[in-house]
Amino acid sequence: MLTNKYNAGVARIGSNWAPANDPAKAAIADQSKSAAAGHEAARAVPSPALLTVVVPTFNESANVPALVEKTAHALEGIEWELVFVDDDSPDHTAAVAKQLGQHDPRVRCIRRIGRRGLSGACLEGALSSQARFVAVMDADLQHDETLLPRMLKVLVNGEADLVVGSRYTEGGGSEGFSSVRRSISRIATACSRRLTGTSVKDPMSGFFMTRRDVLDELAPKLSSEGFKILFDILYTGRGRLRVVELPYGFRPRVSGDSKFDLRNSVDFVGLLVAKATSNAVPLRFFSFLLVGLSGVVVQLACLWQGLVLGLSFAVAQAVATVLAMTSNFFLNNMLTYRDQRVSGLRMIGALLSFYAVCSLGALSNVGVSTWLYSNRPVWWLAGLAGSVVGAVWNYAGSSTLVWRRR
Ligand code: GDD
Ligand code: MN
Repeated sequence: MLTNKYNAGVARIGSNWAPANDPAKAAIADQSKSAAAGHEAARAVPSPALLTVVVPTFNESANVPALVEKTAHALEGIEWELVFVDDDSPDHTAAVAKQLGQHDPRVRCIRRIGRRGLSGACLEGALSSQARFVAVMDADLQHDETLLPRMLKVLVNGEADLVVGSRYTEGGGSEGFSSVRRSISRIATACSRRLTGTSVKDPMSGFFMTRRDVLDELAPKLSSEGFKILFDILYTGRGRLRVVELPYGFRPRVSGDSKFDLRNSVDFVGLLVAKATSNAVPLRFFSFLLVGLSGVVVQLACLWQGLVLGLSFAVAQAVATVLAMTSNFFLNNMLTYRDQRVSGLRMIGALLSFYAVCSLGALSNVGVSTWLYSNRPVWWLAGLAGSVVGAVWNYAGSSTLVWRRR
């Protein structure tokens, strides 16, 4: 069981990572002996980091220098490293971070090209770690870096597998949030607590620390999309992780803007659906369905407008259908497939193939519902089944033919 294994990990803290009779360890020891003999001038090898602090960034160049300074100060006396994971910010955050790394080799930066996403960035930084413990902390100074040593102590003492910096336990606070954002956060927190059955008060926190072996084991099952990596970890490791929450006050942002937007909220609902259905309804499909529903609204509105303008029903419906498909295409390009977005002239080809995919989807919709209706004349059941088949076809078709990975 995970817990026992993790506990074994805790027991090992302070001693060597690999068991004494491990052949790999013996080989490494041999190798380093001969290497040492070869290099007579004994080089001072810096001690490995005990803690990796992973900091996802997007347009945080103004915050990064202060963050390094404050973190270094908070972690004095501890072997640490700080890994920025930057999604090629237009404000050159990566360059600023790498410049800092020139002065302090404990600071590194992974620059990702053509990718966006908070969870994926955190995961990538965490997987680059070789330390025993890994923390995730925002770059904008909203998280309280002075909590890091206390979080580490809880883990080193083996009191928990995961420590969460919490806004909602006694002594914590979310002053840094606007009132709207605070309400969204509270609702999302209530939903996710129900779903995971967890007693953690702040499962949506972006500030936490865990043992690296915990992350290494859970990583293949975590979603790299969305904003809520801690929730995902709690959900995926539910029932097996011992969690301790430490309160902190969420500070207001000083420089730059929050990247949280409506898309992140939709993503989060999608993540809940994906987890609740064991990925039977993946996040992308959920987004595709939402866009499809908006298409129904567009279609009805255009049909109505066409009829008002005096078009015949057939013509009005045909025009409305093309307009709904077109709006679906652009919305999907912006939301559902934003990571594989097509642009420029390639959009024309993609739009035409989207029409083609949807037409086949419509045919299969009509075919399936008519066939069902002839067997069992329940109109809504036949209609619904047709829509589901059509939607699945459209989704499968568009993700393989229109927005295929290159
Ligand atoms: N690499 C990368 N890619 N980093 C990102 C991205 C992205 O697409 N989006 C945001 N970030 C970085 C930001 O630069 C910042 O360092 C951190 O992730 C958090 O982003 P904010 O935009 O400041 O989010 P927030 O303040 O609204 O919400 C944060 O705090 C909440 C409370 O702990 C997030 O961490 C939430 O997950 C968390 O609930
Ligand atoms: Mn923030």
